[in-house]
Amino acid sequence: MDFFDVVQKRRSVRKFTDQPVDSQLIEKALDAALVAPNSSNMQPWEFYWVKSTAHREPLIEACFRQNAAQSAQELIFVVARLDTWKRNQKLILNWIDTLDSPPKVLVNYYKKLIPLAYMRDPFFIKDTLAYLMTTLIGWFRPTPRVSFGTARAFETASKSTALACENLMLALVAQGLSCCPMEGFDEVRVKKVLKLNRHSHVVMGIGIGYAAEDGIYSSQFRIPRELVVKEV
Ligand SMILES: Cc1cc2nc3c(=O)[nH]c(=O)nc-3n(C[C@H](O)[C@H](O)[C@H](O)COP(=O)(O)O)c2cc1C
Repeated sequence: MDFFDVVQKRRSVRKFTDQPVDSQLIEKALDAALVAPNSSNMQPWEFYWVKSTAHREPLIEACFRQNAAQSAQELIFVVARLDTWKRNQKLILNWIDTLDSPPKVLVNYYKKLIPLAYMRDPFFIKDTLAYLMTTLIGWFRPTPRVSFGTARAFETASKSTALACENLMLALVAQGLSCCPMEGFDEVRVKKVLKLNRHSHVVMGIGIGYAAEDGIYSSQFRIPRELVVKEV
């Protein structure tokens, strides 16, 4: 399928048929998700592909038994994490080591700047200092504004994770599947089932399958283009 056909074809499908989904199609879509653009290439995401019925039932329950979850042949919960950055930083630095003459600026970026941005301290001392410093410097010249607090850190991680979700969904559609992104779930319960800690945020659940005839509830509505596209 042409890229634009895939984009147009993707709709949120809330009812799926009983036809099972070949695992290879999911694997391929996950591979597409993993090459999504992401902030500083820190890849803060995790994908929980629900395989066991022991997990599936309580997860459907946590999604309020909505159709998109209940009738889905496959379910994936996509999670943003704040506590994998050290591991990922190490892996990236190892990879940089394998490059022919890696630029020093790249090494410094991952060794020095990444910890500044990603390290979390429970009393927000680092955040407060960084906030005051960048605000002060920002009066005089353009300055990277650091994120303050856990909510902003989750925002950063969730942006990248949401892009991976879109790659995943488009890859599913390109292979003839349908899906529905969901944030209609009880996150506390989803995290409990998936044994996720407080450094994790469940960005989306994705129900996957082959669309039932009545799987799309209405025609697609979009806000008029002139209200949202601004030429500046
Ligand atoms: C972050 C996010 C959360 C969503 N949560 C739900 C949900 O819980 N249940 C549902 O049926 N649809 C959900 N949707 C689907 C939206 O309702 C849908 O994308 C929107 O109405 C536009 O329709 P379309 O996807 O068919 O273009 C969600 C979509 C996104 C991006």
